[in-house]
Amino acid sequence: MQSTPWTNTLRQPFRDRALQSNLGIPVLMDRAHDQENRVAIFEGDYTKQSEPWNYSHRAIEGLRHDWVIEQLELTGLMPGQRVLELGCSLGLMTEKLQKTGAEIFAMDLSATAVAKARARVGNAVHFLVADASVLPFEDGLFERVLVCDGLFGWHLDEATQAKVASEVLRVLKPGGTALFTDYIHHHAFYKVRNFVRDAGFKISGESFLGDRLWYQFASAFKAIESWKIVQKILSNRKIAIVLQKLARMVGAPGTRHIMVMGKK
Ligand SMILES: C[S@@+](CC[C@H](N)C(=O)[O-])C[C@H]1O[C@@H](n2cnc3c(N)ncnc32)[C@H](O)[C@@H]1O
Repeated sequence: MQSTPWTNTLRQPFRDRALQSNLGIPVLMDRAHDQENRVAIFEGDYTKQSEPWNYSHRAIEGLRHDWVIEQLELTGLMPGQRVLELGCSLGLMTEKLQKTGAEIFAMDLSATAVAKARARVGNAVHFLVADASVLPFEDGLFERVLVCDGLFGWHLDEATQAKVASEVLRVLKPGGTALFTDYIHHHAFYKVRNFVRDAGFKISGESFLGDRLWYQFASAFKAIESWKIVQKILSNRKIAIVLQKLARMVGAPGTRHIMVMGKK
């Protein structure tokens, strides 16, 4: 593989490994036992099902991705600035991120997911396989880091969760912002806030998606979710927007997704 400028953003020995990768997608991981277990879990998800979380058929997930981009742009993101997306999965959000004009780096623990994401999005995004708890990048490189859905679902013990946060802090530029989103009960939102604050970030913002009503609506159809008509309803963006507007009227209790922004 030819040396591309972005490989200069990597730490040694990851830089050499990226140059040696003949897949075109560098696999930049240390082989910890616990990490191997997690790779097996997520690779298993992607090899058993073509789309493990079914995001492209659930209208609320499209609105969630739009919400992240909207909030990211509200932080004052400028074209050409560097954004790192952790856990990019099949690249559904990566595809939208690309339109911001920022330089996008996207990574996931699953090589299968990253290969599919790259096939969807193309080579303008720098894709790599890596673990969010051992980021292969040099310090202070990114204006923004996205940790979306997310830290609390990654099968990490508390120490490794804290390691992810300290890695995010390390690779952010001074003054840069990390956006953390998670699906969690609103009574537990304080856990996300505390996590971000305890990791050493200054909390600079918070936002709610307003998706609770949509999830309640979807669960009413659970027993018949394989019916075509139901799938059509659940993938309908207009229905999702109406449910979102109603749910947003009640603030925190109307949402399952919180975003907490932390500034370095
Ligand atoms: C629920 S999906 C979220 C996808 C996307 N971020 C979104 O918001 O739509 C979680 C993704 O995180 C990846 N993942 C899990 N643990 C990870 C880790 N330690 N480092 C990087 N990615 C990880 C999984 O392979 C999976 O693709």
